[in-house]
Amino acid sequence: MAKPILLVTRKLPEAIEAEAARLFDARLNSADDPWFRDGAAIARRAADCGAQGILCAAGDPMGEATVAALPDTVKAIATFSVGTDHVAVAAARARGITVSNTPEVLSFATAECAMTLMLMAARRAGEGERMVRAGQWEGWAPTQLMGVTLEGKKLGILGFGRIGRELAAMARGFRMEIHYRDIQKLPAELEQGATFHDSDDGFLAAIDVLSMHVPGGAGTAKWLNAERLAKMKPGALVVNTGRGPSVDDAALAAALASGHIRAAGLDVYDGEPKVFPGYLDLPNVALLPHLGSATIETRHAMGMRALENLEAVLLKGSPAPHEVR
Ligand code: DGY
Repeated sequence: MAKPILLVTRKLPEAIEAEAARLFDARLNSADDPWFRDGAAIARRAADCGAQGILCAAGDPMGEATVAALPDTVKAIATFSVGTDHVAVAAARARGITVSNTPEVLSFATAECAMTLMLMAARRAGEGERMVRAGQWEGWAPTQLMGVTLEGKKLGILGFGRIGRELAAMARGFRMEIHYRDIQKLPAELEQGATFHDSDDGFLAAIDVLSMHVPGGAGTAKWLNAERLAKMKPGALVVNTGRGPSVDDAALAAALASGHIRAAGLDVYDGEPKVFPGYLDLPNVALLPHLGSATIETRHAMGMRALENLEAVLLKGSPAPHEVR
């Protein structure tokens, strides 16, 4: 029996491409040719090859127009990401297309990235690194690049899902006190002593560091705006490894410029790969290029999970283990 045809939009780790080719008649994009940036081109390629599955990735334009343009042959879209804000899930479902993602396997890596940014912001690591590289370091000095410690600080986690809880576990090692804001209070075994806040105001006023882990979408658009920033303690830190659109960039840049927010660390951006220009000249913001899940181990696990989802739908005729509803 002929293998189902799988259109892969992005270059994937070698072992994942090999596994995709073993399971499917895989149409790879090993050169990372940028056609994946254009939804119409994705749909056209899917039609040209008669794809039954599409393996796409975070940021690919799989919105309503793309889903509407897909050929009827497509039965599964597996995204190589936990986030699904780039996929029109309801529109796909309405066309009988199963959408799946890659949860769990990237929680630790993304929490590591948040911890990295938290430390960079607290300890001015970006500023120090730039100073050394620019040949401007003149030697140790008692007042040079003094940051703040995380020890004893109150970490406020917005979105206490798997990634937020991994971060909480790491931050306890730094003797931080964990607070969280979520839709509802979690059971004690998941809270592990963390303090739940049922209002934004109480949460923001209580914490020294805000780490954002919300998935994007209309419900959290520009959540961190001027009004909420003003409710944070002077000198607080902000970290975002969730999705860029949940921050009002102009408001955060203004709070960083005034010093009300001491420092920030960002891994995700509204409209990425574009970065709000107001951040670029601010010394007190660490900027990473959406590295959250970028470890060799995690990207391999994400690829295997995406293939597992496709294998279920296209080869076994069973539900995707990580179907998004
Ligand atoms: C995701 O998986 O949604 C990330 O943002 C990319 O790792």
